[in-house]
Amino acid sequence: MKRLEHKVAMITGAARGIGRTFAEAYVKEGARVALCDINIERAEVSAREIGENAFAVKMDVTDQASIEAAVQEVVSTAGGLDILVNNAALFDLAPFVEITRESYDRLFSINVAGTLFTMQAAAKVMIEQGRGGRIINMASQAGRRGEALVAVYCATKAAVISLTQSAGLNLIEHGINVNAIAPGVVDGEHWEGVDALFAKYEHRPIGEKKRLVGEAVPFGRMGTAEDLVGMAVFLAGPESEYVVAQTYNVDGGNWMS
Ligand SMILES: NC(=O)c1ccc[n+]([C@@H]2O[C@H](COP(=O)([O-])OP(=O)(O)OC[C@H]3O[C@@H](n4cnc5c(N)ncnc54)[C@H](O)[C@@H]3O)[C@@H](O)[C@H]2O)c1
Repeated sequence: MKRLEHKVAMITGAARGIGRTFAEAYVKEGARVALCDINIERAEVSAREIGENAFAVKMDVTDQASIEAAVQEVVSTAGGLDILVNNAALFDLAPFVEITRESYDRLFSINVAGTLFTMQAAAKVMIEQGRGGRIINMASQAGRRGEALVAVYCATKAAVISLTQSAGLNLIEHGINVNAIAPGVVDGEHWEGVDALFAKYEHRPIGEKKRLVGEAVPFGRMGTAEDLVGMAVFLAGPESEYVVAQTYNVDGGNWMS
């Protein structure tokens, strides 16, 4: 049986990477899925590749009007909203004394404010519909502890874990389950950028950091977006009804809590 039959999902940052893979998985489970992204051209290509139950919606999670318009577009296109995945995020790194206000503002605006206010807009619709819902936030192992060069991104992901707890506790009375996934290191285009930044600041050849973090995973390799799909479907589906305000590590054993 398909686990997300008749459900409508919206996934932010779904033009590529983990969000795109989740969109494909949710469609396979029977859902209608909105791929919401600031890169609408790429989201449209991805939606076309996934098939008729996927559609693209332009959305900038740093812009309140864009968040509200995107949620309304999903509702008017697909007839409701049952599942939100807050997946859009930006990474940056720098030695502590070189962190800029600009980088701080940008990362907190996308990763934290984007998550909070998209949850809020979706929750309003879900409460109005009166049939509950599921919200899944993308946290990270980076939110479990600091990293020498990654202070701001780590802090944003710690904030996502905290918001998941508060929103989860507040929204469960409406039958809305809020939970999060904390991946470890997930191969994909995102990591090309991360690797290039580490190469710059740790004076490494391109590709070395990525190889080393993969080798350090207890499972023995980097994760893939597909490794996260089981948890993403579980948290969106009927089997997770009693799961509230949790963050699950899906990281090959990198972090234990
Ligand atoms: N890849 C990893 O190793 C890893 C590890 C832990 C957590 N995560 C988290 O998983 C999620 C997905 O990661 P990914 O590797 O697929 O990232 P990615 O960089 O490949 O994809 C991010 C997407 O977000 C979109 N986006 C950026 N700014 C936006 C905005 N303002 N509004 C709307 N969309 C915007 C981008 O266009 C892109 O399509 C993120 O929350 C990330 O922090 C990733």
